[in-house]
Amino acid sequence: MNGYVPITDLHNHILPGIDDGARNPDLSRALLQSEKEQGTEQILFTPHFYANHMDFEEFFRNRDASFASMKGVIRDMGFKTKLGAEVRLQEKLFELDLPRLRMGNTHYLLLEWPFDGSYPVWGDEIVDRLLRRGIRPLFAHIERYDFFFRNEENLRHFMDKGCVFHINADTVSYKRTSGQAIHLLKDGFVHMICSDAHDPGRRPVRLDQAYDFIEEKVGPEAVWMLRENADTLFNDGEVHTHRRPPVRRRLFGLF
Ligand SMILES: [Fe+2]
Repeated sequence: MNGYVPITDLHNHILPGIDDGARNPDLSRALLQSEKEQGTEQILFTPHFYANHMDFEEFFRNRDASFASMKGVIRDMGFKTKLGAEVRLQEKLFELDLPRLRMGNTHYLLLEWPFDGSYPVWGDEIVDRLLRRGIRPLFAHIERYDFFFRNEENLRHFMDKGCVFHINADTVSYKRTSGQAIHLLKDGFVHMICSDAHDPGRRPVRLDQAYDFIEEKVGPEAVWMLRENADTLFNDGEVHTHRRPPVRRRLFGLF
C-alpha cells in the first residue's frame, strides 16, 4: 500500500427528483451528508437512463437542472463531482450517441443489465460497440444477476474484453448477502464498491460498513485496491482488472 487514496462513489441516485432516488432536495442533502460523514470526497452522480422510454435530450436537461439545484450544497460540502448515468441495457441504445452517456469526461460508461433473468444475446454487441469507441463499460451490481454470480465464466468473458465490475455496498454490509460479495471479491471479479444510494431511509449510503467488513474479512489491501480503482476511474485512468487482493490466511475456516 502506498499513499492516500480518496473515497469515491461512482454510482448513486442522490440527485433530486429525477428517478427513483432522492425525491427532493432535503433527501439529497441528507444523502450528501452521509457521504461526507463516511469520508467520501469524489462523487459521480448516475441517475437512471432507460433508452426505450426516455427522451435522450430530455434526460440530459433534467439531469443538468437537478444538479444545478444542488450545486451550492455540493460546493459547500467540498465534493469533487462529475455527471453520468446508469444506463440500462436496452435495444434502443443501438440508435443513440453512446459516448454522451459516459461517466463524466472519462472513457467509462455505467451499464446495468436487465433484471428479468434473461441474458440478452445482443448484450455482447452493445459492449463491443462501446469498446470499439474506446469506452469501457462498468457493470453495475454484478451480484444481482444469476447469469454472472452463478457463472463466473460469463464475468471472465467480459473482463477479458476490458469491462470493469462493481458490487453494491449494501450487498457487503447485509449478513444475508455478504458471503456472496466476499466470494466474488476473492475470485477477483470485484473492482470497486459503490453505494447505489437512493434514499436515506430505504437505501442509504453504506460505504463505511462495506469497507469495514471487507477490511475485517479480506484485509486492508483489498480495501485499498477497491478505493484506488474507484479513484482511478473517476480520474479517467486505466483500471487494472486482473489483479486480485491478497487474501488473508486464517488457520481455521475460510473467513
Ligand atoms: Fe443504481
